[in-house]
Amino acid sequence: MAEGSGYGKVILLGEHFVVYDIPAIASAINDITTATIEKSDKYELVDNRPATEGYKTKKQGEMDRSMKLILDFMKIDVEKTPVKITLSGNLFCTSGIGASAAMATAVARAFSDYFDLGLNEEQINRISYEGEKGSAGTPSGIDNTCATFGGLIWFKKGEPSVMEPIKIKQPVEIVMGNTGLTSETKEVVADVKKKKEANEEEFEKIFAEQKEVINQARSALESYDMKKLGELMNRNQELLEKIGVSCPELEDLIKTARENGSLGAKLTGTGRGGYMIALTPGKELQEKVASAIEAKGFKVLKTSIG
Ligand code: PMV
Repeated sequence: MAEGSGYGKVILLGEHFVVYDIPAIASAINDITTATIEKSDKYELVDNRPATEGYKTKKQGEMDRSMKLILDFMKIDVEKTPVKITLSGNLFCTSGIGASAAMATAVARAFSDYFDLGLNEEQINRISYEGEKGSAGTPSGIDNTCATFGGLIWFKKGEPSVMEPIKIKQPVEIVMGNTGLTSETKEVVADVKKKKEANEEEFEKIFAEQKEVINQARSALESYDMKKLGELMNRNQELLEKIGVSCPELEDLIKTARENGSLGAKLTGTGRGGYMIALTPGKELQEKVASAIEAKGFKVLKTSIG
């Protein structure tokens, strides 16, 4: 049996803006999706990944498109060579955690293993990017890059894209609060595009501020100034609200995190649902913020970045 895996990720700052060539900062998290591939008499895809209620139904179309794009790109004909693909792992699938890219990377690696293709990391990343087109339409490439390479990265879209590892003194705790809502990346990215086209001048100002925020955030991370990083995450959230990708549930979680001592909190990933990320250096603060969010009836993920 062949096997492969891909990391989940969290975008610390810069989602959506990254589609417009503004750098973003993201980190892989320890949770992964795995794919196994075995010989079968018909093509079968079994999805055993843990997920938010409704996630798999809502994402079925994206998932089918992604699989098709991956198979076409790898020139694999599952009618001629039928296989059973089984997805599992501990990455809890919901919007904003890079689940589709983790899946694409896992599947690419498993196929490379199954057919003995010996693909290198760059090639796996390229295939995963292809799969991302099924979910994000015009993906920046940040999710597949994190899913494949792991670590904390500075990412700028382009041909080729720029990916620079960011070194920090020690890992920093975060809390991710799950709204339980699923949004379609492709839809939200398209809405931002429409809004931008109707408000070019306003977006120019927002983009200029975001560039400042992201550059300062990189310096704050490198000098381990968590207070500053938190402030910048809050500013990033304001800008995300302006471009229309937040929602009341996310803002409720953000408020709870901030009221309980988080140094900064914002949505992460696509928005309009999915996860909120709160910066909570130290186990004690992490526990406090996580408990406050759980007390409101939301699921949390406690992890660290860097
Ligand atoms: O929701 P996620 O984790 O798939 O993140 C999407 C990130 C966007 O910036 C909104 C889209 C992209 O392609 O970068």
